[in-house]
Amino acid sequence: MSEARKILVTSALPYANGSIHLGHMLEYIQTDMWVRFQKLRGNQCVYVCADDAHGSAIMLRAEKEGITPEQLIANVQAEHSADFADFLVDFDNFYSTHSDENRELAELIYTRLHDAGHIATRSVTQYFDPEKGMFLADRFIKGTCPKCGAEDQYGDNCEKCGATYEPTELKDPRSAISGATPVLKDSKHFFFKLPDFETMLKEWTRGGALQDSVANKIAEWLDSGLQEWDISRDAPYFGFEIPGEPGKYFYVWLDAPIGYMASFQNLCKRRPELSFEAFWSKDSSAELYHFIGKDIINFHTLFWPAMLDGAGFRKPTAVNVHGYLTVNGQKMSKSRGTFIKARTYLEHLNPEYLRYYYASKLGRGVDDLDLNLEDFVQKVNSDLVGKVVNIASRCAGFIHKGNGGVMVDANPEPELWAAFQTAAPGIADAYEARDFARAMREIMHLADRANAWIADKAPWALNKVEGKQAEVQEICALGINLFRQLVIFLKPVLPNLAAAAERFLNVEPLSWSDHAAPLANHSLNAFTPLMTRIEPAKIDAMIEASKEDLAAQATEAVAQGNGELIKEPLAPEINFDAFAAVDLRIALIEKAEFVEGADKLLRLTLDIGDAKRNVFSGIKSAYPEPSKLEGRLTLYVANLAPRKMKFGLSEGMVLAAGPGGSEIYLLSPDAGAKPGQRVM
Ligand code: MSP
Ligand code: ZN
Repeated sequence: MSEARKILVTSALPYANGSIHLGHMLEYIQTDMWVRFQKLRGNQCVYVCADDAHGSAIMLRAEKEGITPEQLIANVQAEHSADFADFLVDFDNFYSTHSDENRELAELIYTRLHDAGHIATRSVTQYFDPEKGMFLADRFIKGTCPKCGAEDQYGDNCEKCGATYEPTELKDPRSAISGATPVLKDSKHFFFKLPDFETMLKEWTRGGALQDSVANKIAEWLDSGLQEWDISRDAPYFGFEIPGEPGKYFYVWLDAPIGYMASFQNLCKRRPELSFEAFWSKDSSAELYHFIGKDIINFHTLFWPAMLDGAGFRKPTAVNVHGYLTVNGQKMSKSRGTFIKARTYLEHLNPEYLRYYYASKLGRGVDDLDLNLEDFVQKVNSDLVGKVVNIASRCAGFIHKGNGGVMVDANPEPELWAAFQTAAPGIADAYEARDFARAMREIMHLADRANAWIADKAPWALNKVEGKQAEVQEICALGINLFRQLVIFLKPVLPNLAAAAERFLNVEPLSWSDHAAPLANHSLNAFTPLMTRIEPAKIDAMIEASKEDLAAQATEAVAQGNGELIKEPLAPEINFDAFAAVDLRIALIEKAEFVEGADKLLRLTLDIGDAKRNVFSGIKSAYPEPSKLEGRLTLYVANLAPRKMKFGLSEGMVLAAGPGGSEIYLLSPDAGAKPGQRVM
């Protein structure tokens, strides 16, 4: 028996300013399945993560919501934690980068890098918003493209012609935060001297820590020469101040990966058997793996190993990169309802369906993974319900009725049993290599063989034949033992199904090595259905609910047009014809009611003069007593294309202002306006 490995695993830290969606979940589920496999094998495996809580985006969003950044990140952390728990992602610790441990470690690493001469300072000239009193990151500057003249483009690239440029090249630059014209201003910045680590990085990136395609990409970057990395930002900024440099803050990406260490250090306080040193010191014998998406490779394969190396810590054993999630072959889309939040999924479907589907499609590569919703329903129903659970439900009844629930000691088909034993190491290798798709294929192949054998033996027919009842018991005992094997093999992917199966099998939590010993003369508990089929209607409901989120957001977006803190710069000028193309009418709200099953919507029946219209509007949060709206006049976009929603057709929209939540203000005309009158 080889000694248990010590393994520390991380997933990328989600930003604390948005909800978790099914794209994120691909990463957390992938990592969780690998961690659960390691634990099932008896290794000491620790899985940490945290919210990535710093940066100007979080600061500005908190300001807009009228709360402190601390409140914002606490709210989001609660939301994220619940999403992960409900998807059965079992972190040993889910922490925050805005923590004492992270501050101390960031200061320590910076100080060590500084003392070793790896930090440079120089003056940088950047756009500054004089009204807001802050330097502007590229995405907070808008203006006219210097190449093609398209208006309203971001500070670093043009969406019209694809040009990339410096923000200073933009014509008519504006601050996207206040709308003010930015001015150029100098400021001292701190740089991490990445080129100091070129030799180390060339070696490390080619030393087996990376997938081939990732290593090749990095080799291109390394060959074209490394640049110093700007790690400071000026106040106001939500983050950690640089020691001894008042008004200068660490850039969010400096302390974000240190958050992996901080989360682990925080966990050590609760788990005395863990030692920070044993996992992070330069001579550590523990393994360290980071799971990340393909968009953040440079941070994890260049900056991070260089920071660790320069500060005297160990480097990652490997960085495991995955591709992006697409839905039905396309980028997730809000209007198609395929931008699905973790919570929206959970309101409609069992998390293990998605865990299995991702497993069945996840290989070792960095290719994108498609969630094809038809294939999803088909595969889950056929594999999990039709193959795996079916074995138990076919056999359990005979054991309960024919032998008081006791499995006899029998192996009527030694070859089949042996085939399952022989397959086990290959399945373990596939898991270890993160080739979940291969593991699932091999497991389903075994399930097919078990089902075919049972079908061939037909215990249901045999049971009716005089004198064959003992044989039926033998067949079903093997059937249940084969099912138990499959449960062990699937446990990293389907922890809830495994727990339910353990209750039915009347056994302690199964571990990988249990697969070698069959149950004999063993008493079973009553069989309850372990998993039900996906009803396609649930998928439709989830898509509709995702569109509903969008409708609510659209109302918020309209409402935010004049928000005080983030003044959206004015949209590009339009001529009168474009304005006149919008048919705005006065509408009388005849009826306003809750919509069953919708969190954010009200159903409004509008009288628009000579006709009635049905509109779903995302204003419920501001009008908890909808009947109070009845009899009121408002403004209505009459020629907006109708939208089909789960609850019915939404014909146009009503207009409102305000920041959202309880502050949404429906617009009203002066007294005297009549339903149906056109607004000019
Ligand atoms: N905060 C940074 C990571 C800091 S790690 C020290 C960040 N956050 S994120 O919320 O944008 O993304 C978190 C992880 O989810 C990343 O690894 C990212 O690649 C992954 N994904 C985000 N959208 C995704 C898809 N649509 N598909 C697959 N993975 C996706 O980046
Ligand atoms: Zn352009």
